Amino acid sequence: MQIIHDPNELAALCRGWRFSGLHTVLVPTMGYFHEGHKSLMRAGRESGDRLIVSLFVNPAQFGPGEDLAAYPRDFDRDAAIAREMGADVLFAPAPDAMYLPDHATWIEVPSLSGTLCGLTRPTHFRGVCTVVAKLFLLIMPTTALFGEKDWQQLAILRRMALDLNMPVSVKGLPIVREADGLAMSSRNAYLTPEERAMAPALQQGLLQAARLLATGERDTAGLAQAIRAYWEKQLPLGQEEYLSFVHPETLVPVDHIENTALVAAAVRLGKARLIDNLLLRAPVA
Ligand code: PAF
Repeated sequence: MQIIHDPNELAALCRGWRFSGLHTVLVPTMGYFHEGHKSLMRAGRESGDRLIVSLFVNPAQFGPGEDLAAYPRDFDRDAAIAREMGADVLFAPAPDAMYLPDHATWIEVPSLSGTLCGLTRPTHFRGVCTVVAKLFLLIMPTTALFGEKDWQQLAILRRMALDLNMPVSVKGLPIVREADGLAMSSRNAYLTPEERAMAPALQQGLLQAARLLATGERDTAGLAQAIRAYWEKQLPLGQEEYLSFVHPETLVPVDHIENTALVAAAVRLGKARLIDNLLLRAPVA
């Protein structure tokens, strides 16, 4: 596995692969790898001729007062994992190699970015879109893989690639969970033992909605009430940031579930901000 820090060196290598007709898969990450990242790398290794893992804690997607400096990092461990997973390249640029001091160009998908996580992180998704677009231009991958835990991010990046005719297939892979159901996240490292013990209740609450839907409750107000009642008991230290039922692609709020809807939530638990989601399917009448 090559470790490349220089974007120009990476671009030259990838141009050669592209001209040789090789199928390159990109797994963009911010590092501190867990099983979720590994599942993306595994899928990339199995489906592509070349696998590139990028590791870049992207300053542009952190707002003022967010955890950019504290974000967990362990480069040597990450490099060992990427190598073990069969990556051909680990691309790990320094921030000043990715952004000029007077960086002035941003990519935004406002219609999908103003809701859910965008409500409290108004500049987050333009930072994500901009860095992912830069990676796509440098690497020219045929496929890029992302986790469905960040469902909104995935919907936005799919839209960006479609609208800008980017010749890359943006694919999502299922959330990887701990044995007790907590969605894996690098930020779980912030949880104290007490917070960690109650964190699975985030997903358990969403599963209450799936159960209630199966019994015939299709109004999302009723489903939300059931989730909040569960959290009140089982997630007492959690502070809800949002709990929303939306169309899975357009992210438009849904009041009554006819077929499918995504229920998505963000909860603050101590220093951690946890997100999770679940695709709901109404029973066939
Ligand atoms: O999901 C992430 O880890 C980041 O948002 C991404 C896609 C690597 C962009 O920095």
